Amino acid sequence: MNNIQTEQHQSPTPTRDSVEQAAGRMIGILNDSSIALLIGVGHQTGLFETLAALPAAGSDLIADAAGLNERYVREWLGGMTSAGFVDYQPDRGTYSLRPEFVPVVTGPGTENLARTLQYVPLMGEVAPKVAQAFRTGGGTSYDDYPRFHHIMASESAAVNDASLVETILPLTGCVDALRRGISVADIGCGEGHAMNLLAATFPASTFTGYDFSGEALAAASDEASAAGLSNVRFELQDVSRLETEEPFDLVTAFDAIHDQARPAEVLKNIRAALKPEGTFLMVDINASSRLEDNVELPWAAFLYTISTFHCMAVSLGQGGDGLGTVWGKQRATDMLLDAGFRAVEVKELEEDPFNAYYVARP
Ligand SMILES: C[S@@+](CC[C@H](N)C(=O)[O-])C[C@H]1O[C@@H](n2cnc3c(N)ncnc32)[C@H](O)[C@@H]1O
Repeated sequence: MNNIQTEQHQSPTPTRDSVEQAAGRMIGILNDSSIALLIGVGHQTGLFETLAALPAAGSDLIADAAGLNERYVREWLGGMTSAGFVDYQPDRGTYSLRPEFVPVVTGPGTENLARTLQYVPLMGEVAPKVAQAFRTGGGTSYDDYPRFHHIMASESAAVNDASLVETILPLTGCVDALRRGISVADIGCGEGHAMNLLAATFPASTFTGYDFSGEALAAASDEASAAGLSNVRFELQDVSRLETEEPFDLVTAFDAIHDQARPAEVLKNIRAALKPEGTFLMVDINASSRLEDNVELPWAAFLYTISTFHCMAVSLGQGGDGLGTVWGKQRATDMLLDAGFRAVEVKELEEDPFNAYYVARP
């Protein structure tokens, strides 16, 4: 037995002040996590947009304008007032959304964080199953998250609409080739917006999206049909056993590697699906592989939480590796090299601080 095992572990006695601070932090978390649920409702019901469009108004007028039940709206307004999002004038009984909150809770842009906060109630839906997996191992299934694909698609569409063509694609050096006409595949394409956007922008190129969710692919095909696109198709495949007819010039994966059951196989399959002079663009979470480097990251706690409740859990639920959301740049680079890529560049974009952009060549 070594000394560490035999010594009695003695924690330093906390001071009264430090315990009070810890309790204060817990109360803050109680309030903030509760407000996350109200923000989710505000986002889903359009209440934020309604408030932003109205002058200071009573709950009956706000409920009417939003087409919602007044009693629920009044309680929601109480929570949002307590959280400091809404100003309440008691003498007139009116509520108004504070102007500085308008950009962060409304609109289609990347600054609307109410959309991102939808992950919190989504995680709550699987909490009992995840707690059980702490005891038994295993994990969850994608089917446990009925709203996941849609929330993910709306998050990634906001980034891609703002930056994919103008800022992200130039990182690959493939823009001229896309104009001339090349073949492109997207791995774990979800609801397919990235492929549809590129298909509309580069009509001379052809695009294929792969995913194993039939429901997500149906939404992808619907969007392509609605836009009248004939140069994009979506194929149901498990990419850990990817089979392609012809090699591609460009393969992309948008936040679709870290939750794979068998990420090493998927990266090897991508490498095999590329032409010798092809390019792989892997967009994945911007973090370090070392916990100690991540603690200062403003959203580190969120990343480890969503990993526990979704990304790691769905991988373990398939008997997979459970790589996790925070696999980090060092491990990602090593895995790309192990998969046979010889040159890997890692880039960061101001427009999307959540993600790192890997450009890898065979
Ligand atoms: C985090 S989501 C990203 C979706 C999309 N790329 C986006 O940015 O909106 C990961 C996607 O990978 C898909 N996926 C996971 N494992 C897969 C596998 N083995 N084969 C095919 N698709 C898979 C999931 O169904 C999901 O749509």
